[in-house]
Amino acid sequence: MKLIFLGPPGAGKGTLAARAVGILEKAYGMPHPHISTGAIFRAAIAAQSPLGLKVKAILDSGKLVDDGTTIELVQERLAREDARGGYILDGFPRTIPQAEALAGFSHVDRVLNFDIPNEAVLERLGGRRVCRGCGHNFHIVFDKPKQDGVCDHCGGEVYTRDDDKPEAVQKRLEVYRAQTAPLIGFYRGKGLLTNVDARPDVEQVVENFKKALPV
Ligand code: AP5
Repeated sequence: MKLIFLGPPGAGKGTLAARAVGILEKAYGMPHPHISTGAIFRAAIAAQSPLGLKVKAILDSGKLVDDGTTIELVQERLAREDARGGYILDGFPRTIPQAEALAGFSHVDRVLNFDIPNEAVLERLGGRRVCRGCGHNFHIVFDKPKQDGVCDHCGGEVYTRDDDKPEAVQKRLEVYRAQTAPLIGFYRGKGLLTNVDARPDVEQVVENFKKALPV
């Protein structure tokens, strides 16, 4: 199953994807890697690679990396063996040109649109904490690490993303509305869009995901 997770920043795409990978692998008997363009960019920044040096200031400001760089990166990732049978694309496409390019190199089965009001997004981003080691998403109210600042899963450092600062969050929401929200109509027009109610707690969102497919 080849899936796109579409939705505003902080909607819970990465959190659900971490759970959905195992569900899909079991249901379809093949790997379904979670491919997050944001996570790929953050790893490049941490490694101080040429890509990381190029995109750091862009991510920190909440703007989008250029389409050419992002499309090339996703095309290369989808060409790998583990993505042949299925994948979850989280954070890509984010512009109409990215969606058009994707249609040229991969078939997509379904686009899940995370339906969530703005206030919930602000609450989720305001409290998000992320593990530097394994990337697990925590939240200071909804999913606290057992020990402050330490990941329950790998013992890594739990930190606040630079782009979760208030100025960057406002910019990301603006960019989402202007450049990414039009993809809802784009994929609805192709008959690929399914809305998922992303407001409830994580367990209920997992159930909503299973019903939306269904698996
Ligand atoms: P990216 O990393 O993709 O950021 P995003 O889309 O803004 O999404 P987030 O990671 O902020 O949110 P999420 O929906 O995954 O929510 P999460 O699960 O963490 O992109 C970062 C940057 O990279 C972009 O700004 C851009 O610069 C660049 N970039 C990436 N892709 C690009 C592209 N295609 N083109 C150009 N540039 C690109 O959840 C949020 C919080 O809520 C967590 O604390 C979590 O614990 C909590 N939570 C989650 N679900 C629930 C729930 N059900 N109940 C309660 N709490 C919950």
